[in-house]
Amino acid sequence: MAIPKYCLVTGASSGIGKHIACEMVGRGWKVIAIARRGDELNNLAKSLGQDKLIPKVCDVSDFDSVKNTSKELIASNIFPSLFYLNAGDGDEEEENFNLELHRRTFETNYFGVINWIDQWVPVLKKNGGGTFVGTSSFQSFIALPGSAAYGSSKAALNYTFESLDAMHYKNNIRFALIYPGPVDTPMLKTDKPIPSAWKPEKAAKYIVKKVLKGHMKIKFPPRWVLLLGIGKRLPRSFFRVK
Ligand SMILES: NC(=O)c1ccc[n+]([C@@H]2O[C@H](COP(=O)([O-])OP(=O)(O)OC[C@H]3O[C@@H](n4cnc5c(N)ncnc54)[C@H](OP(=O)(O)O)[C@@H]3O)[C@@H](O)[C@H]2O)c1
Repeated sequence: MAIPKYCLVTGASSGIGKHIACEMVGRGWKVIAIARRGDELNNLAKSLGQDKLIPKVCDVSDFDSVKNTSKELIASNIFPSLFYLNAGDGDEEEENFNLELHRRTFETNYFGVINWIDQWVPVLKKNGGGTFVGTSSFQSFIALPGSAAYGSSKAALNYTFESLDAMHYKNNIRFALIYPGPVDTPMLKTDKPIPSAWKPEKAAKYIVKKVLKGHMKIKFPPRWVLLLGIGKRLPRSFFRVK
């Protein structure tokens, strides 16, 4: 009997992460699905098959929660070789600086990723390697007003992943990055349709295809990639709030 291939997906209760979980199950992987909303994870397990998706309630911003979940998996002889560290959150900032928002955003978007890396790099090193996939954002490249906390948490992720990738190449551990432009999920917090935004199903299919082919930097949707290229060339004054 073939040994099952396990992957772990954080933020699997909604949006891009939920569809990555579906896509990976469709490709024959066993998925450990992580989020805080257990009811959503249980519904997903019921629809995909309880033997194919293992729901784990875990708050990624809480180090002990990540540590205990990791210990439970290891004790059950479950060793993922691929980690989609996708969970994230972000609120628009007001003019008054909001320190609490910055701390909260970093706890989820930055520490909520590296808590897993802390727990699993030693395991992957022992087991011959593996891949971490971090979900960054276009906003890590262009500093927009209202996005200081969110954009900087994602920019920190870019730097950490590139640095760790250089460090652990020799250990056969890869650190790939996804840079989504707009994807139509609850995170967008808007009722107005955003032109050329992708549906989460389409984003997940694209991400999984590229990751499994070994791509290290994955950007989409194409029209927004074009706009990003233009945006990066604009002077700072273009973005100033009048
Ligand atoms: N949608 C976009 O346009 C867009 C663009 C660029 C980047 N991204 C990035 O893509 C990733 C996925 O976002 P999405 O668009 O799919 O949004 P979403 O539908 O709101 O999903 C966010 C997921 O993250 C989970 N999550 C948030 N905080 C968590 C915590 N502390 N512990 C565990 N899970 C947590 C949520 O689950 P629970 O609430 O159940 O815990 C949910 O499953 C995020 O990293 C986001 O920054 C999205």
